[in-house]
Amino acid sequence: MSAIESVLVENRVFPPPAAAVQGARISGMEAYNALCDEAGKDFNGFWARLARENVVWNKPFTRTLDESNAPFYKWFDDGELNASANCLDKHIGTPTENKTAIIFEADDGAVTSITYKELLARVGQFANALKAQGIQKGDRVIIYMPMTVEGVIAMQACARIGATHSVVFGGFSAKALNERIIDAGAVAVITANFQMRGGKELPLKAIVDDGIAMGGCTTLRSVLVFMRTPTACAMVAGRDKTFDEALQGQSSDCAPVPVGAEHPLFILYTSGSTGKPKGVQHATGGYLLWAKLTMDWTFDIKPADVFWCTADIGWITGHTYVAYGPLAAGATQLIFEGVPTWPHAGRFWQMIEKHQVTVFYTAPTAIRSLIKAAETDEKVHPKNWNLSSLRILGSVGEPINPEAWMWYHRNVGGERCPIVDTFWQTETGGHVITPLPGATPLVPGSCTLPLPGIMAAIVDETGKDIPNGSGGMLVIKRPWPSMIRTIWGDPERFKKSYFPEEMGGTIYLAGDGAVRSEDRGYFRITGRIDDVLNVSGHRLGTMEIESALVSKTDLVAEAAVVGRPDDLTGEAVCAFVVLKRSRPTGEEAKQIANELRNWVAKEIGPIAKPKDIRFGDNLPKTRSGKIMRRLLRSIAKGEAITQDTSTLENPAILEQLAEKL
Ligand code: WTA
Repeated sequence: MSAIESVLVENRVFPPPAAAVQGARISGMEAYNALCDEAGKDFNGFWARLARENVVWNKPFTRTLDESNAPFYKWFDDGELNASANCLDKHIGTPTENKTAIIFEADDGAVTSITYKELLARVGQFANALKAQGIQKGDRVIIYMPMTVEGVIAMQACARIGATHSVVFGGFSAKALNERIIDAGAVAVITANFQMRGGKELPLKAIVDDGIAMGGCTTLRSVLVFMRTPTACAMVAGRDKTFDEALQGQSSDCAPVPVGAEHPLFILYTSGSTGKPKGVQHATGGYLLWAKLTMDWTFDIKPADVFWCTADIGWITGHTYVAYGPLAAGATQLIFEGVPTWPHAGRFWQMIEKHQVTVFYTAPTAIRSLIKAAETDEKVHPKNWNLSSLRILGSVGEPINPEAWMWYHRNVGGERCPIVDTFWQTETGGHVITPLPGATPLVPGSCTLPLPGIMAAIVDETGKDIPNGSGGMLVIKRPWPSMIRTIWGDPERFKKSYFPEEMGGTIYLAGDGAVRSEDRGYFRITGRIDDVLNVSGHRLGTMEIESALVSKTDLVAEAAVVGRPDDLTGEAVCAFVVLKRSRPTGEEAKQIANELRNWVAKEIGPIAKPKDIRFGDNLPKTRSGKIMRRLLRSIAKGEAITQDTSTLENPAILEQLAEKL
């Protein structure tokens, strides 16, 4: 796309097509505005109405929002429900019971499907197996699984008995797993022997064994292993059972355990600005409401839809829009085990045609890599497949650049499908700022407007509103049902991370910069304002990677990590390293850089591997010893240093650090 066009697109507006407006749950901006007004006039009444309409309660709530201990907000807290019953049992006895709940396409292309009724039976049986392991309401269970129906079953089964799950992405290391087992005090790990990705069999169970062997997992009693492939894996007698062994003789009937609305449904670890990942804790009632409501609002889900969210269950997107939302909405969804580029980069388009997908939800990083593939190889261009089943497209995880938006719009959406650019976070539980497909005029690169009831704003450090057109910090001024409840085991950190004192201590600080357009007041996210990087839509803390690097104590003296823009991955990790020995150059530097990359992969996971590593005799520091990260960011980008370097202790090292390997 020419530069001129890309400048122009920012001002282009795409009104929702008539076909999308007609019959939409929220049809037209008047309908959107009416909901916003309702929330504005009677905030609690608005949420109470939606919670009664969208959630099946075992015991109805009488209190909607309790702000007495802000920012530890409680929603619907005297009500009782079960999340799994809201996803499965609720459909029994309705026409949905025999509808396909999940179409599963394996890495090798094999397709299976399961109805709601069958899924309920399998979840019930698995829940009974968990109970037979002694797992009870309130226990924490780690799930370290491939993208399979069994992963969703494991999550649903935990929810069914009131156990709190914590899913760890299958790409995380043994060390990361060990830390999460310990932090959550998990009693069990649910895993698979292997996972299949791009035709390769990759170990999971062996990593679990390594993680447990690192010690400290004192609460852990059992490991359940799904045999994804016929290849055997090591089993520890008395601790480990295959799924077949655990399920043997278990009935498929398991009554869902009602829990209080504030009962922790799950903990999901995510990166923050300090070293240790935080366990974001979500509550059952508010979260479930949000999963259901946003399926209706943002995806305008209808009975005939085939919904496909490409996210892994290891991320929040895979929680809300794979494991819970589509089921709560009674939709048919597609789950895909493999990778978008194998056996060829047209796999997504081929699958959309094959399964007649109507709502497709993916990440900008995937779109950008598929654009690149289509530009180099005509055969994998989406035009080779019939994508006319699509009616709505979605984007999540990072800002989508207008060029990628236009390509997605033209080549995938056939210029007929609204694109919902959904802004949200692990902490928000679901969408918070997003277009509505049957209402919002779209502007490429903008997540447009907050959902009704979400009081989003852009403010300065003191919490004062910033006028449209100027950048500031994104906040949400009032609580909402699916918000983070606390950081598991660390309420102080929760308060400090998200509710700054300078703003009064009750306003949610998202950690992103944003600006609203002058004409429409549309939000555009400009990126994180803390030390969190977004690489291919995955959150990584710079401090986390720094800690990993300096933990290689035989080699590394000091390290600083910053992000730099990257065409494909959005941001890339750039590490500046001082070794304990003299600064390496040439081949030796490359070799050590590789060693460090592999080390980081082992400590955190391959996604955290630094793309660039630069060596210096020192890091740029002020006389008081503070690392000047702003300078490092400029160097990482390859920019000339224009900042004031007068406070710099040793200006000569800037040249060293600018040197690429
Ligand atoms: C970024 C993913 C711009 C943002 C659901 C946020 C986005 C972080 C968008 C959360 C979007 C997510 N436009 N930026 N549509 N969606 N982000 O917790 O920086 O993995 O703070 O949740 O991703 O990442 P997380």
